[in-house]
Amino acid sequence: MKKFAIAALAAALMGGVAQADTIKVGVVGPFSGPFALQGKNFKAGIDAYMALNGSTVGDDTIEIIYRDIPTADPAQSKALSQELVVKEGVQYLAGFYFTPDAMAATPLLEQANVPMVVMNAATSAIVTKSPFVVRTSFTTWQTSTPIAKVAFDGGTKKVISVVSDYGPGVDAEAAFKAGFEKAGGAVVEAIRMPLQTNDFSPIMQRIKDSGAEGVFAFLPSGPTTLGFVKAFNENGLKDAGIKFFAPGDLTQESDLPALGEAALGLQTTFHYAVSHDSAENKKFVEAAAKAIGNPAELSFPAVGAYDGMHVIYKMIEATGGEQDAAKAVDAVKGLSWESPRGPVTIDPESRHITQNIYLREVAKAEDGTYYNKEIQTFEKQGDPGLAAAK
Ligand code: PHB
Repeated sequence: MKKFAIAALAAALMGGVAQADTIKVGVVGPFSGPFALQGKNFKAGIDAYMALNGSTVGDDTIEIIYRDIPTADPAQSKALSQELVVKEGVQYLAGFYFTPDAMAATPLLEQANVPMVVMNAATSAIVTKSPFVVRTSFTTWQTSTPIAKVAFDGGTKKVISVVSDYGPGVDAEAAFKAGFEKAGGAVVEAIRMPLQTNDFSPIMQRIKDSGAEGVFAFLPSGPTTLGFVKAFNENGLKDAGIKFFAPGDLTQESDLPALGEAALGLQTTFHYAVSHDSAENKKFVEAAAKAIGNPAELSFPAVGAYDGMHVIYKMIEATGGEQDAAKAVDAVKGLSWESPRGPVTIDPESRHITQNIYLREVAKAEDGTYYNKEIQTFEKQGDPGLAAAK
C-alpha cells in the first residue's frame, strides 16, 4: 500500500504526514484438533502483548491473520504461508508450533522479503535454513542439556532415553546423551517413537526391562505428553523408583490439573514457568489469563508468542513500516529485554534466543492446585545444538 504514489502525494499535500498503514502479521499454528490448546496459547500471548502495548506501531496498525494447522503437516504449512504472503500480503510470518511446519515455510522467506518469527518450533537447525528466521521460544538442546547434569548430580548413572522420532526429539536425545556422558553417566538404550504414538504401555515395559535407573523423555507438549506421564505413573514406574528426567514440555502447566498427584515431584528443566516470580511475569500472566479466559490453560507457547510480538514490534519500528526483511532482522540482532521468563537476548549470530533455563519441580500450592516451582537457575544459556546442526 505504501508504494501508491497517489497516496504518498496526498500525504505530502497534507503537510508531509506519514501515511497510516495496516501491517499484517500471518500466524500459523494449531488452532483446532488435539493441539488446539497450544495454538490458543499463541493467541493469548499475542493478545496479551497487544493489550499491554497497543495495536499500533508509529502510524501503522497491526493486524494479525491466523491460519490453522492442526498437526505437523509441512505441505499444508507451506501452502498456508504462501497464501498469507501472496494473497493476504502479510509482511511477517510467525507462530509455527511444530518443527516440520516451520522448516517447510523457510524457503519462501527470502523471495517474499518476509521475516519469520518462530514462536515455538524447537529444533536447532531451523534458524540455519534462512537468514530471515528469528526464534523467541527455545530449543530442545537448550532445555535438555541442563537436566542431564541434574540427573547425574542426583546420583543416577544409567538412563534409557525415549523421544518422539522427529527433529526436536532427535535433538533432545543427542543433548541429553552428550551432557549425561560428559558428566560420567551412560545412556543404556535410546528409543525413538513415531510422533503418532498414543499407547505408551509397551514403551513403559521396555523402560522397566532395560534395567535403567531413570528415563529421559521428550515428546511435543499436548495430548502426547499428558498420555506419556500418565502411563509412566499408571504402569508403576514411578512406584518402582524409576527416576524421571525431561525438559518442561512434559509437565506444562495446562497438563497439571489432569495429571494431579502423578506429576507431583517431577523435575524438569525449561525456559519458563507460569509461576516465575517477577514483576514482568505478573503483568504478563494477568493479561494472558484474561485473554485465554481460563488461567489454568496458560502454558509456555503464550510466552514465546508474547516475546515474538515484541520482536515484531521492534522490527516494524526499525523499518518505519516498510517491507524490508533484511533491515528488520538486522534491527533485532543483539536485542535484549526483560521477558516474563527473565532476561533474554536475540543472539546476533544465530538469531535464536539466549535465556535462563530453570530447574523446576511440580509442587502443590496451598489452594490444592499444582504448579512448576523454580528451584535452580542455569543463567544465560545459548543454544548448544547449533554446532550440531551445521
Ligand atoms: C517442535 O515440533 O519443534 C516442538 C513442538 C512441541 C514442543 C517442543 C517442540 O513442546
